[in-house]
Amino acid sequence: MKIVFASHNQKKAAEIRSVLPSGMILLTLHDLELHEEIPEDEPTIEGNSAFKANWVLQRFGLPCFADDTGLEVSALNGAPGVHSARYAGPARSDDANMDKLLRALANESDRSAQFKTVMTYCDGEIEQQFTGLVKGVIATEKLGAEGFGYDPIFVPEDQQLTFAQMPLAQKNLYSHRARAMAQFLAFLKTKAL
Ligand code: IMP
Repeated sequence: MKIVFASHNQKKAAEIRSVLPSGMILLTLHDLELHEEIPEDEPTIEGNSAFKANWVLQRFGLPCFADDTGLEVSALNGAPGVHSARYAGPARSDDANMDKLLRALANESDRSAQFKTVMTYCDGEIEQQFTGLVKGVIATEKLGAEGFGYDPIFVPEDQQLTFAQMPLAQKNLYSHRARAMAQFLAFLKTKAL
């Protein structure tokens, strides 16, 4: 079975492939030769996720799913949240985003946060969302070189290492994305799609 993932992000695609059953082939927008950016202007993570999935469905008529993710920091009332990618500006720089967040928390004793991923599957008949959450804390410095995005500053609950210090198989034990994927895969099984 082939399924379209509405994303250009090859790191996300690698994470998703790592939890797919054998026989399921993931196509990204790169495989479909679509190089346009999908707008991400909705006010919520749920809204962006649904928009991305429907945008690709409308263009290609193929069943597809999308992932939208945000990092919600308690001391910042849930920011950067839906604005995580552009937290430090339109350049979407991971380093600048992390540096801004570390500065914002410099004098903060509550460093708790959570990653939230909302996946949307749609095929023209069904539209369904799956949410994966992981609680944790924001580290005081960037540590590790694995993963992407905010991984070097996020330590999942009850762990000592940042996501960027973990091999992917270990990140998958706790991650927001692996948790959302587990629900999505269970759904696909029941639908026998
Ligand atoms: P988006 O879902 O691609 O819009 O991602 C929003 C922001 O969260 C971007 O800055 C991503 O780099 C970051 N992000 C998404 N998923 C992860 C993750 O698994 N770990 C760390 N950062 C992530």
